[in-house]
Amino acid sequence: MHVRSRWVAMVLALSAGMVMMQAHAVVPVLVIHGGAGVIKRDMDPATQKAIRAKLREALEHGYAQLKAGKPALDAVTAAITVLEDDPHFNAGKGAVFTHEGTNEMDAAIMDGSTLRAGAVADVGHVKNPILLARAVMEHSPHVMLAGQGAETFAREQGIPLVDASYFRTEYRWQQLQKALKRDRLGQHQDEEAEGHFGTVGAVALDTHGHLAAGTSTGGMTDKRWGRIGDSPIIGAGTYANAGCAVSGTGWGEFYIRTVAAHAICMRVAVMHEPLKQAADEVINREIPKLGGDGGAIVLGADGSFAMPFNTSGMFRGWIGADGVPHVAIFADEHP
Ligand code: GLY
Repeated sequence: MHVRSRWVAMVLALSAGMVMMQAHAVVPVLVIHGGAGVIKRDMDPATQKAIRAKLREALEHGYAQLKAGKPALDAVTAAITVLEDDPHFNAGKGAVFTHEGTNEMDAAIMDGSTLRAGAVADVGHVKNPILLARAVMEHSPHVMLAGQGAETFAREQGIPLVDASYFRTEYRWQQLQKALKRDRLGQHQDEEAEGHFGTVGAVALDTHGHLAAGTSTGGMTDKRWGRIGDSPIIGAGTYANAGCAVSGTGWGEFYIRTVAAHAICMRVAVMHEPLKQAADEVINREIPKLGGDGGAIVLGADGSFAMPFNTSGMFRGWIGADGVPHVAIFADEHP
């Protein structure tokens, strides 16, 4: 073939390849939550506005990673760090207090394409627990580290540590004081009304079709004895595989007992249930049947997603092809 014809043929072949690649490029999706629970309609408008703005910021920040062709793990990490840094959510700054007046935070991250996972529990000085969970996954031979050992590892990894006072907010402190008063009076804790919710999470699908999930939380107000919730337990509050990614928010004990996140993904993979149905069965039937409550975000490898919850509201949002963040709080909003 003439040199010029060979050149033209090569350019055509390359263009065809690029067109095919574009045709196969997956449209990325990011879904987030900032916790489910009793969210009052008459919530202070300024707070509501600030929360919606922060959810949008987290979505935009995470989606920028996906648009740049970065892995789903980067989007999950980016979105969650925005929420951890904001005092309105029960994760990082603004985490709830334990019975002893300390903050003990949990977080986990999972890469659906490799089934690699990292988690931390009971950390009190790590500014962004999700970053430490990711470091556990990427730079340690383990899946879950807890307490002082986890913080020693954070120091070794150069993960920012802060004074415990960084996490304190007056709102969470007063929540603890109310719970302690009820303890003293021997009153039963109304778990939902006390808002131990506010956990944050994200699930993402990247342009390569890979999924990831992450969750970060302060756990529940007035927790004792080194209680650890569902968020850092792979399969309970956080799970991702090749077809499904889940982050839960709610009364952790029930998510552990139902292995909620894994149960949803198994319903999809093994029982071939549509994603929304699988999520609904676990969140709106199995968990309430045992007396628990909460919500979850679930994302499939085809970009379909669900955001079920059985409480009065769930801070939540998603962003997809049009790059516009959609956020909602109450049950009758359809973002
Ligand atoms: N779902 C958060 C917790 O129970 O710790």
